[in-house]
Amino acid sequence: MEKLKVGVLASGRGSNLQAIIDASLAGEIDVEVAVVVSDVADAVALERARAAGIPAVHVPPGKFRTKLEPEIEQRYIETLESHEVDVIALAGFMRILHDDFLTYFAGRIVNIHPSLLPSFPGLDAQRQAWEYGVRWSGATVHFVDAGVDTGPIILQAAVPVRDGDTRDDLAARILEEEHRLYPMALQLIAQSRITVDGRRVSILKPRQGSEPGRDRAAKGRTG
Ligand code: GRF
Repeated sequence: MEKLKVGVLASGRGSNLQAIIDASLAGEIDVEVAVVVSDVADAVALERARAAGIPAVHVPPGKFRTKLEPEIEQRYIETLESHEVDVIALAGFMRILHDDFLTYFAGRIVNIHPSLLPSFPGLDAQRQAWEYGVRWSGATVHFVDAGVDTGPIILQAAVPVRDGDTRDDLAARILEEEHRLYPMALQLIAQSRITVDGRRVSILKPRQGSEPGRDRAAKGRTG
């Protein structure tokens, strides 16, 4: 049985990475985390990968603050390609990816964002939502395009903002949903159940009798 090989890019604590690893090791999803790559040498995400026996690679980010230079992007591509990844999952990766990378892995890069997009893209979406005073926020898994948090939406989950919540209370409630949503979205890709038409993502019904560990048809190419 062939699993979807996912390369995870992460810069920080890696709790979403952990949720994906856990679901994968528990056999809940047909996903193998093939490699974890980070721009931060001491990222907890790299430690989590090593603890699970997953290749963990630090690729230094170069001289810019958010942008990766073309040569550095090339190193990211080569590292991921050398592990034969089908899909790239961004999980708290704090760099903006550009043309070369996006073209190379076109339609195969996903991201998780801690708000109900298109509301509150960008940094500290939890604080943005909390300060705005919305009654509901949530999490979004989406394909990555050239914009910041603008690609076609795969899955969303909403959580209430309760009276008296701090920004951190809200962030914790959203994070719980993130950990549920991200493995679920990867499983939909693994099962080839996602089609993309412009901005609109459709989720096909599961095939009769399909369950984790069975019958994935086409690998990772999602539209
Ligand atoms: C998450 O809130 C995710 O939505 C955002 O960055 C954070 C990463 O957290 N893109 P973690 O490193 O997965 O714990």
